[in-house]
Amino acid sequence: MDGYIGWSLALRQLAMGNEVCGIDNFSRRRAVEEVGSWSATPILPIEKRLSILQKEYGDKISFHKGDLVNPDFTNDVIGKFQPDSIVHLAEQPSAPYSMIDQSHTLYTQSNNVMGTLNVIYAMKNYAPKAHLIKLGTMGEYGTPDMEIAEGFMEVEFRGKKSTIPYPRFAGSWYHWSKVHDSNNVAFACKLWGLCSTDIMQGVVYGTRTSEITEQNKHTRFDFDEVFGTVINRYCAQAVIKHPLTVYGKGGQTRGFLALEDSIQCMSILIDNPPEAGEYRVVNQFDQQYKVSELADRVKRIADKKGLDANIQRLENPRVEKEEHYYKADHEQLKKLGFKATRHIDDEISVMLDDLMVYEERIRAKKEQMTQLVKWRDGSDKIQKIANPLILSND
Ligand SMILES: NC(=O)c1ccc[n+]([C@@H]2O[C@H](COP(=O)([O-])OP(=O)(O)OC[C@H]3O[C@@H](n4cnc5c(N)ncnc54)[C@H](O)[C@@H]3O)[C@@H](O)[C@H]2O)c1
Repeated sequence: MDGYIGWSLALRQLAMGNEVCGIDNFSRRRAVEEVGSWSATPILPIEKRLSILQKEYGDKISFHKGDLVNPDFTNDVIGKFQPDSIVHLAEQPSAPYSMIDQSHTLYTQSNNVMGTLNVIYAMKNYAPKAHLIKLGTMGEYGTPDMEIAEGFMEVEFRGKKSTIPYPRFAGSWYHWSKVHDSNNVAFACKLWGLCSTDIMQGVVYGTRTSEITEQNKHTRFDFDEVFGTVINRYCAQAVIKHPLTVYGKGGQTRGFLALEDSIQCMSILIDNPPEAGEYRVVNQFDQQYKVSELADRVKRIADKKGLDANIQRLENPRVEKEEHYYKADHEQLKKLGFKATRHIDDEISVMLDDLMVYEERIRAKKEQMTQLVKWRDGSDKIQKIANPLILSND
């Protein structure tokens, strides 16, 4: 509940009148510190964040500090709270972080895969009727040279027809951890009759939701090369007149959605669980864009505000296709009532205005925008700072 999406979702669910029990081990705060950066929006300590919510919502909000990788903690929280829905966001979410070196790969995969296994065991033992909403990523599919279906595809092979999981071919150790999670969650549904929605989410951008109207309700906003996702990072770069850094040819195409719409989608899924035993997959994004096209958009909007942005093409540190076919289905959420509410240009404009307030905080960490973790060689700038396995120890 302390993360970028978790905090925003908790605010929405409380505003909708639901009871929320959050957990977090604060590993995100420590990992961003480890790479030498911080959130552009200053984030209050959890005690203060909670007291703000408690004033408004009383005992409808509770919180437990702890690590999902610890089975006793996970069993205890799920057993006592008896949730109707579990939104599982608590993973190491950065592809570059997982590529720093062996210890960061081990940390990412053990944190993510073990945490998810503990959640599904806790559900089986203590909350078998709950709906697990598990955050995966569109990156699980990779960039196949054909249309991407929503979770499953029909095939005909040697005269027999069947529906099989759409092939996953991820592009980082982080993305593979999500694929392993997907396989484990699908198996748990089949084995124990649990119900789950596995969200293949696109890249989320933005500073705002309907509930984030004051500074003390801001969610975190990372802009460093390791934790800052592409549009968010471009906007922070524009604010300090740092060139917008496009990797390679810039033809990398992905699905994107505004934070407000990500929260809307998850709230729709909470209200519309699948049947017991069903493993449902949804592709959660609004529009597809090329990363070079996004840099052009941010530049155009930033220029109108007098920011005079430049675009710089860097040698691509990643191992990925820089120009490719990309067309992904995203119909399931629309069928459940999802309609995007934010236009990307408006959201970029709001983001730039919000970030200008924190220009000095962004400028102070500008070196961290281009440390460049290389997919093949990792990073010798970051790897010696800490053993990431200690991140999960408290
Ligand atoms: N932000 C995006 O663009 C995006 C896109 C696709 C998928 N996702 C997925 O959505 C989820 C949330 O993303 P986010 O951007 O809010 O990330 P985030 O890092 O801000 O939030 C995750 C939170 O989980 C906590 N956490 C991690 N491991 C934990 C553990 N073992 N026990 C307890 N707490 C733990 C972290 O401290 C953090 O506060 C992640 O699973 C991520 O992979 C995010």
